[in-house]
Amino acid sequence: MNSQATLSFCAAHDSDTDILGCLLSAQLTPGNLVLLEGELGAGKSALARSIIRSALKCPELEIPSPTFLLVLPYQNQHISFLHADLYRLETPEEIEELGLFEDPAAIILVEWPQRAPNLFPLADLVIKIEILPENKGRQFTLSNFNNTTMYDRLTDTPGFLTIT
Ligand SMILES: Nc1ncnc2c1ncn2[C@@H]1O[C@H](COP(=O)(O)OP(=O)(O)OP(=O)(O)O)[C@@H](O)[C@H]1O
Ligand SMILES: [Mg+2]
Repeated sequence: MNSQATLSFCAAHDSDTDILGCLLSAQLTPGNLVLLEGELGAGKSALARSIIRSALKCPELEIPSPTFLLVLPYQNQHISFLHADLYRLETPEEIEELGLFEDPAAIILVEWPQRAPNLFPLADLVIKIEILPENKGRQFTLSNFNNTTMYDRLTDTPGFLTIT
């Protein structure tokens, strides 16, 4: 694996986004920072919801968009998540007030990370989501792998993610 390695996945329907979330949830480990990029309505919250529900084994768990509260926590006795949306962040420095890194075991999922560019060097995974034309769903591009194991396991799932 090199640091430029990327993996892609085309999700034709919401249910495919859920499958990707399920696959990713199995590879995330405590302390991971995952950045979710994409325009309004791309599917950042949808993917975060799938990841958290799958990891907590709680398929009906209510997971609203954190757009107004900026950060919402989720946890069970084994694993904890922070789901953040930085859309309303006014300056990158405000990130300090969110306490994102106070729990070293929390897996942190961040929407609109472009609002705090200093997060990118810290990321374990960056996921870019593009809306495909003609209702063809969403294109997910995974990059900035900070962990060979995560990359290797994701590429070991036959026929799922494409190495790009
Ligand atoms: N693979 C897919 N194909 C088509 N639609 C999808 C797919 N995955 C998710 N969606 C839909 O795309 C929308 C994504 O909304 P979501 O709130 O997750 O976007 P977002 O990127 O978080 O936007 P915001 O920037 O406003 O937070 C939802 O309506 C969801 O049902
Ligand atoms: Mg969102």
